[in-house]
Amino acid sequence: MTEPVYYLGGEFVSARTASLPLNDLAILRGYGVFDFLRTYQGRPFRLRPHLERLHRSATAIGIEPPWSIEALAEITHETVRRNTFEEATIRLVVTGGVAEDSITPSGAPTLAVMVGAVSPLPAATYEQGVKVITVPFSRTMPEIKSLNYIPGIMALRQARAAQAIEALYMASAGTILEGTTTNFFIVRDNVLITPCDNILKGITRGVVLEVTMGQMEVMERPITLADLSECQEAFITSTTKEILPVVQVDGVRIGNGVPGATTRTLHELFQEATHL
Ligand code: PDD
Repeated sequence: MTEPVYYLGGEFVSARTASLPLNDLAILRGYGVFDFLRTYQGRPFRLRPHLERLHRSATAIGIEPPWSIEALAEITHETVRRNTFEEATIRLVVTGGVAEDSITPSGAPTLAVMVGAVSPLPAATYEQGVKVITVPFSRTMPEIKSLNYIPGIMALRQARAAQAIEALYMASAGTILEGTTTNFFIVRDNVLITPCDNILKGITRGVVLEVTMGQMEVMERPITLADLSECQEAFITSTTKEILPVVQVDGVRIGNGVPGATTRTLHELFQEATHL
C-alpha cells in the first residue's frame, strides 16, 4: 500500500515522516483540538459544519485559529487529492504549539490533516445490533472535540471487556449523555429522543434530526434509565458508524432485542443524504 500523504504545518509530507516537536502542548498537556469526517463519492461529507466545529473547538480552548474556514477547506481538499483512497477518513488536528516552559503556549498552533482508509463495520453488526455499557462520567467542555480522550479510552477498554462495542457516559443525575465517540438516540412510542445538553453535537446526529424533520416527533431531552426499559429501539451515531442499532445497554434488553424498523429507515435516509 502506498504511504498516505498528510498535511502538516504548511507542507504535504509522507505519513511516515510527519512529526511534531516533543514540546508541543498537544503532547505535553493534551492541549489541542481535532475534528473527524469522511468522504462519500470521494467528497468530504458535511465539510463546512466539521470545519466550523473545529474553529469553535479551537476558540473555546483559547487557540485563535489562523486559518479561515475557506483555507481549511482548500487544505482538506488538496490533502484528499494527493492520496489515492477510494473513500477516505479525514482527521484535522490543531495542536497548541510549542511551549518553552512546558505549559505556556509560546509558538503558533500547528495544523495537521491526516487521511486514511474507511473501514466500515461488517454488515452483520448492523443486522444484529450491538451491546453497549454505561459508565459514570461527564466530559469537561463536552461541546467541543478536545484531544483529551483519556476517559473515553478507558471506558472503551471496559466496554470491550464486557463484549460491548461502545460505552455511554452517564451523568450524575442518572441520565445518558452520549458515547465515547458517538451520540445516542432512542425511539419510545414513535418519538425519537436524543440528549441535547452536555454532549458533542455530532454532525451525524444533525443529519438524523434533519431527515426526521416533519416525518416523526422528535424530543431533544435527557434520556433516563426508565426510558431505556420502556423504549422500543435505540441506536448510536457517528461519522464512522453512521447509524448503528443498539439492542442491549448493560443488562437491559432494548425492545425485543433486535434492530427496529425506525432505526433501519433512518439509516437508509442517512445513506441517501450522503449520496446527494
Ligand atoms: N467522534 N460524541 C463524541 C464525544 C465524539 O467524539 C463523536 C465523534 C461524536 C459523533 O460525532 P460525529 O457524528 O460528528 O462523528 C459524538 C469521532 C468519530 C472520533 O472521535 O474519532
